[in-house]
Amino acid sequence: MTTTTTNVAYPWWQEAVIYQVYLPSFADSNGDGIGDLPGVTSRLAYLAELGVTALWVSPFFTSPQADNGYDISDYYDVDPRYGTLDDVDMLVTQAHAHGMGLIIDIVANHTSTEHPWFKEALASPAGSPARDRYIFRDGRGDDHAKAPNNWTSMFSESAWARPAGDTQWYLHSFSHKQADLNWHNTEVKDEFRRIMQFWMARGVDGFRMDAAMCMMKRADFADTAPTDTNDPLLHQPGILDLHREFRSFMNEYPEHCLIGEVLANDQRQVLDYVGPDKLHQVFAFNYQYAYWNRTALQNTITQSLQSANVGSMPIWVTSSHDQVRHVSRLGLTVPGHLPGGLGPMSEQPSWSLGQARARAMICMTAFLPGALCLYYGEELGLPDHTQLEDRYRKDPRFQPSHYNGRDGCRIPMPWDSNAPAFGFSTQTDTWLPQPSCYHHYAVDRQQHWGGSMLTLYRQLLALRKQFELARHPLQWLPTLRNDVLMACCGGLVLAINFGHTSVRLPTKGTIVARSHPHIALRNGMLPGNAAIWLRPEQQ
Ligand code: GLC
Ligand code: CA
Repeated sequence: MTTTTTNVAYPWWQEAVIYQVYLPSFADSNGDGIGDLPGVTSRLAYLAELGVTALWVSPFFTSPQADNGYDISDYYDVDPRYGTLDDVDMLVTQAHAHGMGLIIDIVANHTSTEHPWFKEALASPAGSPARDRYIFRDGRGDDHAKAPNNWTSMFSESAWARPAGDTQWYLHSFSHKQADLNWHNTEVKDEFRRIMQFWMARGVDGFRMDAAMCMMKRADFADTAPTDTNDPLLHQPGILDLHREFRSFMNEYPEHCLIGEVLANDQRQVLDYVGPDKLHQVFAFNYQYAYWNRTALQNTITQSLQSANVGSMPIWVTSSHDQVRHVSRLGLTVPGHLPGGLGPMSEQPSWSLGQARARAMICMTAFLPGALCLYYGEELGLPDHTQLEDRYRKDPRFQPSHYNGRDGCRIPMPWDSNAPAFGFSTQTDTWLPQPSCYHHYAVDRQQHWGGSMLTLYRQLLALRKQFELARHPLQWLPTLRNDVLMACCGGLVLAINFGHTSVRLPTKGTIVARSHPHIALRNGMLPGNAAIWLRPEQQ
C-alpha cells in the first residue's frame, strides 16, 4: 500500500480490517439499479469511519455475468455495468487517500466460455494448443455422447459439458459457463502473471484467489467410486506446488498479498496452503461454520492460530456472498442446514436472537489476533432476505424447491431509510429487490444512535486498534461453565456467554466494551447470548 510503510515483520495484511464489497449490491451511482465502482468510491468516508483498512471488491471485469462476475471474458477491462478502467484508478487513488488497500479477485480456476481463448478452443481441433489451455477430453461411447467420466461440479450434476456437434467435452468445476483452465499449461501460467502485473501496476494491493483449492484435477481422470473420499476436483496433488509458484512470483512484489479462498471440511488441510513459500493468508471459514457453539469456536480459533507458526495470520470471517448472513444463521435455534446454509430455511430465524448473538460474535471476532473480513452490511446487522420470491433469483445455483442459492445474502445495501431503494440507487427497481425490513437497518437510522450495531462495530474496531489486539497473542482463560468462553489479549479480557442464562464471571474489572449497552455486569453477572471486554482489576 502506498499510504503505509510495510513493516516486513508484520505486513499490513496480517492485521487488516477487510471489508468485502459485493459490487452489484453496495452503492449504485448512475441509477441503473446495479452497484458500481463510482458508488464504492462515493462511500469510502463511511468505510474509513468504520475502521476499515482494506477493501475487497468482487469481480468487476468484463463478464457475461453468468455467476455475477466470477465468469470473466476479459481480465484486463471493466464490465460497463460496473464502470471503466478510469473508475478503478479513481477507486485505488481514493482508497489509498483514505488509508485503505484494495484487494481484487483473481479468478484463475476458470474463464467464462465467452473468453476469446475458449472461443478459439472451440474453433480448433482436438489436441490443438488452443484446447490445451482448457481441459477437453473425448466423450465416451461411439458417438461421444457420454461424458468422459462421472465427476460432478459444485453447481450441477455433471462437471462436463459438450459443445454442440463436438466429439470432446470440457470440464467445469462450477457452472457450464465457467470452463476450467489447465494449470499444467505454461501459457496459462504466463497469462495470469501478466494479469496480476497489470492490476498491481494500476495500484491494486492484493488478490483474493478464487477457488484456490480447485486448480489441479485428479490426474487419472477415472470415474470416482462411491468409496472415494477425495473429490477429484479438490486438493489434488500439485496444488501446493502451484501456489509455491505463485508465491515466488508475488515475492517480487513484497507490498502485495495473495489470499486464498480455500475450502475444506478439515481446517488442517486449509492450513497446508499458507507459509513463507505458499499463500500469504487464507480465510478461516471454519470460524464461520462453527455456528454458536463454544467448543467448536474455541477449537477452530486455536487451530487457525497455528498458522502464526509459519508467519501467516488468519482472516476471521462470519459472513460472505456465498453463505446465509450470520445474523440469520445465529437466529436459528437449530443449526439444521449448516454449514452450507444454502437450503431452504427450515425455520424462520428469530431476528432478536440473531442480533444479540451477532453482537457477541463481533465482540469475539474483533478481539482475535490477525485480520478479519466484514461482509458489507453486517455492520448494520443485516439479515438475509428470507422471503425473496423465486422469480427474482439470479444465482446459477438456485434450484427451485431444493436449493435457494445465494441471492438472499446479496441484497442491495440500505443507506437512507427515507430514500428510494433505501438510498442504494436513485430508483426502486434494483437488481435484487430489498425486503421492507431493511428500512430499519439503514445507515441513517444507526449512525447517530449509541446503541446501534453500527456504533458497536465502530467502537470495537477502534478499540482493537488502540489495544493492538491484532498483534498480541491470545490466551484462553479457565471458566467455570461450559457455555462461557474467556480469553485475554493485549491486557484485556473477553468473556462470551453462549448460554441463555446469566453467569457470574470469575474476573472483575472495568467494562471496556459490551455487546449491548444494557449490560452492566451487576454482581458480576453476564447475561446469556452476550459478550464483554474488561480491563481486569489488579489483584
Ligand atoms: C468462489 C466464489 C463464488 C463463485 C465460485 C466460482 O467460490 O466465492 O461466489 O461462485 O468461486 O467462481
Ligand atoms: Ca450502476
